[in-house]
Amino acid sequence: MLEVEKIRGEFPILERRVYDRPLVYLDNGATAQKPRCVIDTVDYLHRELNANIHRGVHFLSEEATERYEQARQRIAGFIGAAEKEEVVFTAGATASLNTVAYAWGGRFVHEGDNIVISEMEHHSNLVPWQMLAERCGAEIRVLPFDDEGRLMTERLAGLLDRRTKVVAVTQASNTLGTRPELRPIIDAAHAVGAVVVVDGCQGVVHGGVDVQALDCDFYAFSGHKLYGPTGIGVLYGKRALLEAMPPFLGGGDMVDRVSFARTTYAPVPLKFEAGTANFVGAIALGEAVKFVQQFAPADIEAHEAELLRRATERLSAIEGLRIYGTTADKCALVSFNVEGVHPYDMGMILDKLGIAVRTGQHCAEPVMTHYGVTGMCRASFALYNTLAEADALADGVARAVRMLR
Ligand code: ALA
Repeated sequence: MLEVEKIRGEFPILERRVYDRPLVYLDNGATAQKPRCVIDTVDYLHRELNANIHRGVHFLSEEATERYEQARQRIAGFIGAAEKEEVVFTAGATASLNTVAYAWGGRFVHEGDNIVISEMEHHSNLVPWQMLAERCGAEIRVLPFDDEGRLMTERLAGLLDRRTKVVAVTQASNTLGTRPELRPIIDAAHAVGAVVVVDGCQGVVHGGVDVQALDCDFYAFSGHKLYGPTGIGVLYGKRALLEAMPPFLGGGDMVDRVSFARTTYAPVPLKFEAGTANFVGAIALGEAVKFVQQFAPADIEAHEAELLRRATERLSAIEGLRIYGTTADKCALVSFNVEGVHPYDMGMILDKLGIAVRTGQHCAEPVMTHYGVTGMCRASFALYNTLAEADALADGVARAVRMLR
């Protein structure tokens, strides 16, 4: 079992009080808090190891470069990549997904092709594909989910054909918590020659991933949702696919030879890391991964499942409350509304009680449209949350309902 109190001690912000109340932070799906090792690493790098990577023969540059590449190696191991060259550092999941849409999509998706996207994607695994479709004249096809929040995978066969170039799907929905069974989707996509792009923003946090076992072609996630800093993320791609793609951004570090006549590019992954890399973010993300790796994945999973069970049970007892996304193995988040209560009003009252939840569309407007609502409240859990906090949420919601009705 996780020693949650000890873990909480590693997160200084959790000692904060807001409105003179203890902070109950349940907006981890938007961004998770940072453990001391991440905060200290960022501080240390700026104080003692600040030097541009891949560019100097001097001591600091060599050391910073080595630590950057060690972070890449650690992350490759963490996600089960075959080699560290398949891990590209980006500015975040959105940058990762845009890189695939522009670079891979720009070369391999043409007029008359189609791109299949699940209905539960958040905007970063949706809008880049629409932009690509608009640029090249491809068609967007949507794989729907049912009211329970289950992805209707049985409809996939009717959407795929020889002109399907991409299937974009989440590993865990940021709004419904649904974790679609990806392997059959990936197999079906591969059978028609499509590549599968998995959004791992929530999935990598709640349960992790083995990209080789999954056999996905691309996998994207952000550092800041995984207890790391903002402004850093990862794009995993199978080596052959990364090599076949042209670069996305041009500039320093991504080149081999440059002349006015012709420029050739560095091998992967550097081909996709133009400009001065966010080496501070990457090294600190490596520390965040190391932090997570000290716990058994089954213990994290069990603790988060318990938080979800308690929150679901307590919230469900509130009259007029509806939970969106009720699949059996969903990840640790609950989106809900209460009849007659606007989600913003709910969020503001919870805030005054020291409880931070997300309100609004959760960057997933099509999910709102599916249920005919303009917004939802969402409580999303992390490994440092407690059952007492799940109770505080339910008590706070019940109190808000009494006030607002
Ligand atoms: N997409 C992020 C969320 O789920 C920001 O809140």
